[in-house]
Amino acid sequence: MKVIKTTDQLRKELQQYRQNKTIGFVPTMGYFHDGHLSLMDRAREEADIVVVSIYVNPTQFGPGEDLNVYPRDFKRDEKLAIDRGVSIIFYPDNNEMYPEGYRTYVYTEELSQKLCGKTRTNHFRGVTTIVTKLLNIVQPDLAVFGQKDHQQAIILQRMVKDLNIPVKLVIAPIVREKDGLAMSSRNKYLSPEERRQATVLYKALQRARKLVEGGENSAAEIKQQIIDKIETSPLANIEYVEIINNKDLTAVKTITEGTFAAVAVFYGQTRLIDNIILKS
Ligand code: PAJ
Repeated sequence: MKVIKTTDQLRKELQQYRQNKTIGFVPTMGYFHDGHLSLMDRAREEADIVVVSIYVNPTQFGPGEDLNVYPRDFKRDEKLAIDRGVSIIFYPDNNEMYPEGYRTYVYTEELSQKLCGKTRTNHFRGVTTIVTKLLNIVQPDLAVFGQKDHQQAIILQRMVKDLNIPVKLVIAPIVREKDGLAMSSRNKYLSPEERRQATVLYKALQRARKLVEGGENSAAEIKQQIIDKIETSPLANIEYVEIINNKDLTAVKTITEGTFAAVAVFYGQTRLIDNIILKS
């Protein structure tokens, strides 16, 4: 496995494969957990060569967010990527991605302002910008993203379509801890008690799905049930609970095929997100 830090070097390295091999790409901010690793496995199943990027992208963090303390452990990530059969880690620095004079941003309207975008106002502009740059640099045949970040996945699908970016996006399922908590690099911020209580998120979402399976189709009712369940955890501070459609993330009144429940909840300073499809 090679670790490459510049665009020029990466382009040169990938040249030899372009003729007769397919390239799968997994963009990440590092500090790998099994969720990230599952995306690498998926990329390897669907492509000949797997490229993973590790870059904590400053433009997607707001003022006062955790950019400076975002967990990093490159040596560990490197070992895990080798075990997963990754061919190349692209590991650029800020100067490589946003050199002096950088001025261009990509923005997906409306979708970027909903849900997480209401409070994290510039977040998705940072995500769409860096993902566009990375797709242009790597030019993969396919790129794999996680369902964990549902809104991110929807926005990136829209962006790739709108900008005619020649890549296939694959959205892979959420990987969870044994007790149901969705894996996230940020889970390590949780105190033991917060960590214990945080299992309520998935319990609330699963329960909502069961209620829908049992015939409930009122979004207002399901939303209230999720809120009530999360509020049984005294340390939980709800940012939003939304019942949304899968196309443009707008709130629905009636639950139909493709309706999702999405939540964002604070435990102390730690912001957790999760989602579930209510009717498939
Ligand atoms: P990061 O949070 O490192 O996540 C990298 C990829 O892993 C994303 O596609 C995310 O959805 C996926 N992922 C995270 N937790 C997961 C889980 N529990 N199960 C399955 N997949 C999971 O998302 C980002 O980085 C950044 O915004 C990025 C796209 C790299 C742009 O900077």
